[in-house]
Amino acid sequence: MLSIKAHKSAFIDIINSMCGIFGFVSKNNIKAVPIILDGLKRLEYRGYDSAGIAATTVRGVFSRKKSGRILELEKILNKNVESSSAIGHTRWATHGAPTDKNSHPHSSCDKKIYLAHNGIIENFRDLKDKLIRNNHKFSSDTDTEVVAHLVEDFMNDKATSFEEAVRLSLKSIVGTYAFTIIYADHPGKIIVARNSSPLLIGLGDEIKFVASDASAILPHTRNVVYLEDGEFAILTKNDFRIANLDRKAIERSHEKIEWSPDAVKKNNFPHFMLKEIYEEPEAVENAIRGRLVIRDGLAKLGGLETVEKDLRNINRLIITACGTAYLAGQIGEYMIEESGGISAEIEYASELRYKKNSLNAKTALLAISQSGETADTLGALKEIKRKGILTLGVVNVIGSSIARETQAGVYNHAGPEIGVASTKAFVSQLTVMALITLFLGRQRGMSLIAGRKIAEELQALPEKMKKVLTRAGDIKKIAKRYHKFNNFLFLGRKYNYPVALEGALKLKEISYIHAEGYGAGEMKHGPIAMISKDFPSIFIAPSDSMYEKTVNNIQEIKARNGPVIAVATEGNKEISKLVDDVIYIPKTIEMLTPILSVMPLHLFAYYVGVFRGHDVDKPRNLAKSVTVE
Ligand code: AGP
Ligand code: GLU
Repeated sequence: MLSIKAHKSAFIDIINSMCGIFGFVSKNNIKAVPIILDGLKRLEYRGYDSAGIAATTVRGVFSRKKSGRILELEKILNKNVESSSAIGHTRWATHGAPTDKNSHPHSSCDKKIYLAHNGIIENFRDLKDKLIRNNHKFSSDTDTEVVAHLVEDFMNDKATSFEEAVRLSLKSIVGTYAFTIIYADHPGKIIVARNSSPLLIGLGDEIKFVASDASAILPHTRNVVYLEDGEFAILTKNDFRIANLDRKAIERSHEKIEWSPDAVKKNNFPHFMLKEIYEEPEAVENAIRGRLVIRDGLAKLGGLETVEKDLRNINRLIITACGTAYLAGQIGEYMIEESGGISAEIEYASELRYKKNSLNAKTALLAISQSGETADTLGALKEIKRKGILTLGVVNVIGSSIARETQAGVYNHAGPEIGVASTKAFVSQLTVMALITLFLGRQRGMSLIAGRKIAEELQALPEKMKKVLTRAGDIKKIAKRYHKFNNFLFLGRKYNYPVALEGALKLKEISYIHAEGYGAGEMKHGPIAMISKDFPSIFIAPSDSMYEKTVNNIQEIKARNGPVIAVATEGNKEISKLVDDVIYIPKTIEMLTPILSVMPLHLFAYYVGVFRGHDVDKPRNLAKSVTVE
C-alpha cells in the first residue's frame, strides 16, 4: 500500500508469523542463556513445538535444543555460558516432526556453523542429495539443516569466506527464510538474512539484537532497522552492514519503535486473548478514526485515494483470505453486495491461487490478513496481481508482505494481536469492510442519507460494544454450564451465518471441541439429525430481517430436546421463553450486527477454553499466522 512509508515509522512490525528467531552480538562475552531465553519467551506465541539455542564460546559453539515448550529447553541449559554471539529459535514445524533432532539451531558436519530459520526451503531435496554426494552427514529430517551444510560446503573451498559462503548459499536456495547464522571461528558475529519471513535488527549501546518481531527487542532498545526481502546483514560487536545478494551495500535508516512495551504485554489480563477481546471497542474506534465524514455520509480512506478512479470503474470485487479473515471477507461480501453497488465474492486464498478464474479489467482483488504474512493469501494475491488486476489490502501489520504487495489498501490500526485466535482483528476487519462498502456505495447509487445512517451507526458502535462487555460475567456462567459438552452447532442467517462459522471456529481452536457453523436454514437438511440433549446449539438471532425464520429453526431444535443458547437483541423478551440461555446485544443496523453478535461468541470460546484448562493464547497445533502453505 502506497501509504506504507508514511505509516511504517509509526508502527513496529509485530508480524505474527510462525516460529520465533532471536539473537545478539555484544562487545564482550556475557551470560548468553538468560538473554536468549527471555527473547524466546517473548516470541513463543509465534510457534512453539520445540526450541533451541547456540552460542559461540572460547571452547567452540555451545548448543542445546529440545522438543516441547521453552521451559523444557530451559531445564537442560547451563546458565553460565559466556558468549559474544548467540542465537535462539522457537519452532513451528513444516518439515520433520517436532522432535529434539529436528529442533533448531541446525549445524554443519564440523559443528562450527549453526543456524536458525523461519520459512521453507522449497528446493531442499535437490540440495540435500547433492550435499550427501559431497559426503555431508545429516542428522535431521528438516529442510533447514541443508543450509548449514551448504554454507560449510562453500567454505570447504578455502577461498570462500564465511560471509561469501552464506551469500552463495542464499543465492542457491529457493524459498522463504529469515536466518540467523553463527560460526565458531568468528565469535562476536552473526549473519542474518530475510526473504518473505520477518526479521528486524535492534541497535543497543553495547549489544545488537536480531528478532522475528519487535516484542523481543522492545525490552532492550527502541532503535531498530528493518531488513527487506533479498537482503542479508553482518552484525559484529562494532558495526553492522546490509547488502543485497549481489553484494550491493545498502544504507538503511534507523527507526524508532513507538509502541510501549505494554502494547505487547497482557497488562492485568490473564491471557492476551481476553485482553484483545476487551480491546475490540478500541479496535473499532481505531479503524474508523479520521475516516468518517458523517455530514456527507462518506468514508475517507487515505489508502485508497491513489486508486479512487480505478475503483469507480470496477463492477466486481473478489475478496480473498484465510481462517477468521476469510469469514470477515464473507460478511464483507454481503455488505458490498447489498450496499456497495458492485458484485462481490469471497474465495479461500488456498483455492483462489490454483483454480481457473474469470477476471477482467473491471475486477479488483481485496486481500484481508491480520498478520500480512499468511502464505496462502500472499500467494493468491501475487497470482491475481500477475494478471494485471488491481489489488487492495486490508492488513493490520504495517510493512508486512501483503501490505507491500498490494497497490493500495486500508490498515486496521488494531495494534498487535498476540493471541493465536483472532478476535479484535476480526471486528476491525468487519469495520473496514463497512467503510469500504460506504466508500464504494457512495461512488455509486447510495444516497447521502443512507450513507449518513451507516456512518452514524459506525460511530455509535464502540459504546454499544462496551455494553456487550459488561455482560462478560453472564457469558462466563453460561460457558461454565456448557464447557463439558463435546459437540456444538452454531447457527445464523444472512450476515450472521458467517458469524456462526466464526463462533464455531473460535470454539474449535480454543477448546478443541467439535463445533460446526451452519446456515440456520440449512440445519434441517441434515445436521438436525445430530441434535439431542447432549448436543447444544448456539443461535445468532438478532431482531433483523431473518428473525422470524430463525425462531422457526430454534423451535425445530427445541422440539428435539436440543439445548439452545441465543444471542438476541436487547428488549426481545419473547426469545427468553423459547431457549435455555440468552445473551443480549444492543440494536444496530443489520450490516453492522456481526460486530456486536460475535463478541459473546469470542467470550464464550475463551471461557470454555479456560474451564477446560487450555493455554488459550497458544492452542495446540496452531500458530499465529501460517507463513507456509
Ligand atoms: C483465527 O482465529 C486463526 N488463528 C486463523 O484462522 C487466522 O485467521 C488465519 O490464519 C489468517 O491469518 P491472517 O489474518 O494473519 O492472514
Ligand atoms: N521449515 C523449517 C522447519 O520445519 C522452519 C519452520 C519454522 O519456520 O519454524 O524446521
